[in-house]
Amino acid sequence: MADIIEMIREDHSLIRRLLDDLERHPDVRDIRYITLKRELQMHMHAEEATIYQRLLIDIPDAIGRSIEEHNRIRLLLGKLDTTPLGNEVWTQHLGELRSSIEDHFDGEEDLLLKRAADILSQVDRYEMYEQFQMEKGVMAQYTR
Ligand SMILES: [Fe+2]
Ligand SMILES: [Fe+2]
Repeated sequence: MADIIEMIREDHSLIRRLLDDLERHPDVRDIRYITLKRELQMHMHAEEATIYQRLLIDIPDAIGRSIEEHNRIRLLLGKLDTTPLGNEVWTQHLGELRSSIEDHFDGEEDLLLKRAADILSQVDRYEMYEQFQMEKGVMAQYTR
């Protein structure tokens, strides 16, 4: 059965793969960066609109920290957008983005998703999966 917790883990794997690709294939960096940015924005928005809202009462500190981490990731995407693609500073920002994303995903997987698995029923997990997909679709219209 479709499940929001599995969906989030799959998104994390996809984004980790995109980061690897981006570092390994500098020649097609432009198109891969656009894909990475789009996936990240859809993922962060969908989390904020679904699972973060749902867990806010149970783990407010962790959710607050996660939102701050999303905002740091958004800030770094903005820096990459305004730096000429591929120059040294750009590569430096990409390194910062990568470690911010990795720390954030590790934290979510170690705490947030485990907590979610304790709290949410199978039906919740299915319904939130549907909602998560819908929110990604909404965000897809605004990202490019
Ligand atoms: Fe997140
Ligand atoms: Fe996430």
